[in-house]
Amino acid sequence: MALNQSGEGSSEYGLKDDWNYVQNTLEQIIPIYDKTNRYISLGSDLKLRRKGIGLLVSEFQERESFCLLDLGCGTGTMTRLLQERMRSKGNVLLVDPIPAMMRLARQRTYEDGVLAVYEYLPLRESTIDATMAGFSLRDARNLSAALKQINRLLKPNGKFLIVDLSKPDSSVRSKLISIYWRGIAPTIAYFSSGRLGLKFGALAKTYDRLPKISEFLHITQEEGFDVSKTEFSMMGGACVILLTKKET
Ligand SMILES: C[S@@+](CC[C@H](N)C(=O)[O-])C[C@H]1O[C@@H](n2cnc3c(N)ncnc32)[C@H](O)[C@@H]1O
Repeated sequence: MALNQSGEGSSEYGLKDDWNYVQNTLEQIIPIYDKTNRYISLGSDLKLRRKGIGLLVSEFQERESFCLLDLGCGTGTMTRLLQERMRSKGNVLLVDPIPAMMRLARQRTYEDGVLAVYEYLPLRESTIDATMAGFSLRDARNLSAALKQINRLLKPNGKFLIVDLSKPDSSVRSKLISIYWRGIAPTIAYFSSGRLGLKFGALAKTYDRLPKISEFLHITQEEGFDVSKTEFSMMGGACVILLTKKET
């Protein structure tokens, strides 16, 4: 197992004991989740999601059918954007552990769903063409276990799209971004959505637990992926990453 700069193994990443706190917070903010995201990402979350979805669609548009998982689907935004682009339904299985999120996602997308966590995905190995995780991989309790499960489910050469926050290697940038998620984003959320918006302060916890970008990419390679494409925005604080399962 590779050791990170603090001497921990890659399996140390993920929310660990903070997972329940973050999940409780997510449940509480469901009514304001989508709207507040637009504000605190300064309008860029949709742009990033669309960029990622574009990469996936270019892989699958020639196929009549394929099976794709929307992991940590939340309110279903990633799947809705995919449906907009592909003008088809029935190819996606929604996955999320929060029943209220799943209900909303199913109502909005008309896709089937399963209540599950990354770390224990109840599906057969090598059966899935692609997976996507929009702003949710950093919420995994255990990053390494999550990547192992996703790799297990994917067919060889299967794709994994990640659209998420990222932590730049530069400590100055990383610090500035941390200040943004700790102080500025919850303030914007407060003004856009009221007191409940302050709960977006939990984002700082998920940002803190992220590995730096180079380390993150290294971990994905250790867990059986090739890095096919990376794009960063917001000074390296947000990313679109397309991974491909290595052929063994
Ligand atoms: C910040 S929301 C993102 C939702 C949505 N994908 C989006 O693009 O807006 C994170 C989602 O990940 C889910 N999640 C948290 N931990 C998870 C885990 N271990 N496995 C799968 N999903 C998880 C949460 O329940 C939540 O719905």
